[in-house]
Amino acid sequence: MTILDLFRLDDRVAVVTGSGQGIGRAIAWALADAGADVVLNARRLTDLEVTAAGVQDRSRRALIMEGDIRDFSEQLAERTLAEFGRIDIWVNNVGGSDDKNVHRLDDTPDEIFRSQLELNLTSAFQGCKAAAKRMAEGGAIVNITSGAGTRGSPFTGPYAAAKAALINMTQTLALELADRGIRANAVSPGPVITEAYREILGIEDKLEELIATIPLGRAGTPDDVAAMVLFLCSPASSWITGEHHLVAGGRTHRSYQYRPKEGGVG
Ligand SMILES: NC(=O)c1ccc[n+]([C@@H]2O[C@H](COP(=O)([O-])OP(=O)(O)OC[C@H]3O[C@@H](n4cnc5c(N)ncnc54)[C@H](OP(=O)(O)O)[C@@H]3O)[C@@H](O)[C@H]2O)c1
Repeated sequence: MTILDLFRLDDRVAVVTGSGQGIGRAIAWALADAGADVVLNARRLTDLEVTAAGVQDRSRRALIMEGDIRDFSEQLAERTLAEFGRIDIWVNNVGGSDDKNVHRLDDTPDEIFRSQLELNLTSAFQGCKAAAKRMAEGGAIVNITSGAGTRGSPFTGPYAAAKAALINMTQTLALELADRGIRANAVSPGPVITEAYREILGIEDKLEELIATIPLGRAGTPDDVAAMVLFLCSPASSWITGEHHLVAGGRTHRSYQYRPKEGGVG
């Protein structure tokens, strides 16, 4: 036995929402690399099939459950139990923005605010509930939050508010679940160039501007985030709960003045 064995997840069962691409797919593959079977969720089946093939290439079982995660967590959890008999790990990774327009907070339609909260906060709340009541001692929940939730975030106000609330909810959950030996942590990525980032921010022409804001001098990769999630799901982090972990190249600690422009990379 070496300390590296503490990072293994052999025969554990993990659920990863939003695992059809991007960060969620990298998390699913990382957990499978460590020995877990993985239940995959997103709306597009073709993407999920690619993720599932990657899990199987790692000699682990993959179960696809496509569907919109909003009001779907109970079904996801029940099917996981029926197929695998246990839930050890649950990663609430779905999130982002379906609003293609740029709004100041005082100009944001109520329905956009509500829908951002539903996608980024309520769906994770439902996931936490569905997971926690079915987990045994040793269970681990990880909520994917955002650096945007740690400070004022012009032009992404509803998203940032939802992620900030999710960080706080993770802390409460951790305290309430500690006596059952279940841990909950939040992971906040900085800018990771995924489909979401490309689509929403049209990032290609702003990449240089973006990288100039990151002390470590590059954008993040999905694996940067997946490595942290793997640690938090594994026995290597068995004394860590209720924490908020930034994976952001030092970006959220920059001390220089930065004034985001409308449509810029805040
Ligand atoms: N990329 C970044 O720079 C960054 C920074 C900070 C935080 N984050 C957070 O990291 C997480 C993942 O981001 P990402 O960049 O990897 O996103 P992404 O590339 O857009 O991938 C999101 C995944 O979630 C699925 N999804 C979206 N809405 C869903 C819904 N309602 N129900 C079920 N599945 C849904 C998508 O597939 P379908 O469309 O097929 O459903 C896709 O597989 C999000 O919570 C995001 O807020 C990302």
